[in-house]
Amino acid sequence: MSFHGLPADLSTYEVKLAETAAELAAAAVLRRAVFCEEQSLFEGDDRDSIDDYAETIVALNPEGEVVGTVRIHEEAPRLWWGSRLAVDRRYRRIAQLGAGLIRCAVSTANGRGCDQFLALVQAQNEPLFHRLQWESLAFEDHHGMPHVKMQADLAAYPVGMDLRPCVLAAE
Ligand SMILES: CC(C)(COP(=O)(O)OP(=O)(O)OC[C@H]1O[C@@H](n2cnc3c(N)ncnc32)[C@H](O)[C@@H]1OP(=O)(O)O)[C@@H](O)C(=O)NCCC(=O)NCCS
Repeated sequence: MSFHGLPADLSTYEVKLAETAAELAAAAVLRRAVFCEEQSLFEGDDRDSIDDYAETIVALNPEGEVVGTVRIHEEAPRLWWGSRLAVDRRYRRIAQLGAGLIRCAVSTANGRGCDQFLALVQAQNEPLFHRLQWESLAFEDHHGMPHVKMQADLAAYPVGMDLRPCVLAAE
């Protein structure tokens, strides 16, 4: 258990593609809480046209509640993007949920056919992505906040990879 009293072992959580309307709705609620209320990046709703075709990945706690999410979409043949990565505040930095969501996102795209996987990462999260074998390509401002365009090392994300916790390499 973590000091929050929440299970700190990713193996007691599940990271997977959202399968039900309830999981999709809960992911949308979590995104609004993080990107609209907490970070004020969007007013009211962060949904955009990419949601019409993106696939949603969720992290479920042992009770089956959505406590993390990310979405992936194929912008052009074999060119994938990940976005809207969010973990419920209560569950951050205790169970590798952000890392698990990133692993699931890239390995899922790899399984569909992927030559490049990109994300616009908020600058404060660049070290997390570096530890997960991503490289920085460019620095850009989006929604008034510094971001880094980053690219995953696809070799580090084999199809069907083990999503259980693992020790991340130091920066
Ligand atoms: C960014 C976010 C998804 C990370 O999720 P998380 O579940 O807290 O991260 P994890 O527990 O998987 O982190 C894995 C490791 O990276 C570290 N880490 C996490 N975020 C980090 C950061 N911003 N900088 C440096 N290290 C970080 C963790 O401490 C942990 O280290 P450890 O292996 O030594 O224990 C989460 O903080 C979040 O939702 N933030 C608000 C929304 C946001 O910023 N979204 C991302 C937009 S790019």
